[in-house]
Amino acid sequence: MSKDFYTHVVGARPQFIKLDPVVRAMSDQGLNSRIVHTGQHYDRAMSQSFFDDLGIPTPDTNLEVGSGHHGAQTAKMLVALEKDFENHRPQMVVIYGDTNSTLSAAIAAAKLNTPIAHIEAGIRADDFRMPEEINRVAADRLSTLLFAPSQSAATEMQQEGIDQEHIFVVGDVMYDVAIRFRERAKNDSRILATENLVKNGYVLATIHRAENTDNKEVLQILIDALANVAKTIPVILPIHPRTLAALKKFDLEEAAKGSLQLIEPVNYPDMAHLTANARVIASDSGGVPKEAYFHNVNSVILREDALWGELVELGWARLAPPTSVASVARIIEESLDSPPGQEAYPYGKGDAAPKIATALKNWSNG
Ligand code: UD1
Ligand code: UDP
Repeated sequence: MSKDFYTHVVGARPQFIKLDPVVRAMSDQGLNSRIVHTGQHYDRAMSQSFFDDLGIPTPDTNLEVGSGHHGAQTAKMLVALEKDFENHRPQMVVIYGDTNSTLSAAIAAAKLNTPIAHIEAGIRADDFRMPEEINRVAADRLSTLLFAPSQSAATEMQQEGIDQEHIFVVGDVMYDVAIRFRERAKNDSRILATENLVKNGYVLATIHRAENTDNKEVLQILIDALANVAKTIPVILPIHPRTLAALKKFDLEEAAKGSLQLIEPVNYPDMAHLTANARVIASDSGGVPKEAYFHNVNSVILREDALWGELVELGWARLAPPTSVASVARIIEESLDSPPGQEAYPYGKGDAAPKIATALKNWSNG
């Protein structure tokens, strides 16, 4: 491969989704991409299904690092990525979001003096107890081009002293994908029939954050709160493997199965269809509440910090930190009949990826 190419590093579910529109838009503009999958996520439902359904090119290599403690997992990726970058000498490394795959790619590239472009830069929870916060801050600090999904993300980075010239407010690439799949999900997905659900007649929940799954008391609060809601309206929970493991470990699996529609993680079209038709979404995910807003659906964020503050400010989301069963259940129940939020476009209009491709092209020509 010629020197004139970009290496994208991805490894976890949300990164495959963010990668899709970027690689597509770069290819439209004649920019060459090489894809490195770290192997952080590996179950078919957490990885390959996204490549198949979104039509993402097969990764050029899979480093197969798998699961592990933060240090071990990040270190394995770092060693393998350094080797990969040394062998292939990309002109730039493109990283996504805030996972351990993001962090190790940033460190490996920075140590080789390879420029980095960070997509979804400037998001902050101001809480270093979250592994993702460490990853975000380090990745932004080491990046050359920072693609901010919103003005507030850009402002955050400016306040941290990052040079304004390196920051591009392009909007959110997940919106590009949501739009591309809006019609297709409607036509292709059979998930409502399969799960016996009707439009506006269920709550879609997801839980996977370390802070919500690693502590029995917290996880129990969330499951019990969702179980209370399920007395009024069905609650469907496509379960992240981390959460399933935690339910088993804490002996909560039977209770969850007894009151919730617990299903395997779903593919992207099914998730888009479940999202678009839900009455309300209850989630601790970074991406899912934002996708709810892209589909004009209200959400309840099962965390202390919204991460995407505009969703709360505009009335599309409410915060429900897992402090008690009653408070979480009450907020979800109140949201069932909340009016939609204000119409505004804090995350752009679904053309973030072409803007990123143009900025990359200008950078490589400049
Ligand atoms: C990771 C990211 C998180 C992101 C999430 C998206 C970090 C620190 N965390 O969290 O920011 O929101 O991905 O989903 O990078 N597992 C499987 N099969 C898989 C993948 C994981 O069984 O294909 C199980 C393993 O038991 C593993 C656990 O899930 O130990 C956690 O996986 P890991 O990738 O370490 O973190 P996530 O919780 O997925
Ligand atoms: N998602 C999916 N199937 C599921 C759950 C989530 O396709 O069963 C998609 C969801 O639509 C979003 C992304 O995965 O695009 C979010 O990933 P996740 O919540 O795992 O990570 P986070 O956004 O919190 O980093």
